[in-house]
Amino acid sequence: MHIDRLERYWIIAVTAMLGVFMAALFVSVVVFRVQLPSPVGRVDPRALAETEFATPGLSDLGAGRYDMHIVAKMWNFDLGQGKGEPAEVRLPRGAQVTFFVTSEDVTHGFFIEGHDANLMLLPGQIASTTVRFNRPGTYHIICHEYCGPAHANMVAAIIVE
Ligand code: CUA
Repeated sequence: MHIDRLERYWIIAVTAMLGVFMAALFVSVVVFRVQLPSPVGRVDPRALAETEFATPGLSDLGAGRYDMHIVAKMWNFDLGQGKGEPAEVRLPRGAQVTFFVTSEDVTHGFFIEGHDANLMLLPGQIASTTVRFNRPGTYHIICHEYCGPAHANMVAAIIVE
């Protein structure tokens, strides 16, 4: 079969580039452990009362570490700390909090101002991230996935003392 010289060069160049891309993918996954965010667990959104999300809120694990369960719903975040508007939780400076968050109705977002926390909340899935709060201040938890008419009001606050 006759292949034109230029065409042959292009076939070699494209194949080599595919090889480089595959190698880059392999190195990023195996060496740098790059992973897509994935849910840490699953729950039945119609039966949250029978799960760890029955009583949302903060658990003190000692030594400045905390777990926090949060239920997102149209249109607030249930932090389990009374029913203030917006809901708020107080943390000591330096607290390291692992958040476990789920939605009981539609897709919501979870973003914490000034920190590296950005989750998508899907009913049936538990999303998780760990954040350290080093600076005193008020940091809002914001829903950044459109979830209905009162989406813009869907906010809570973390107060670091
Ligand atoms: Cu919840 Cu937007």
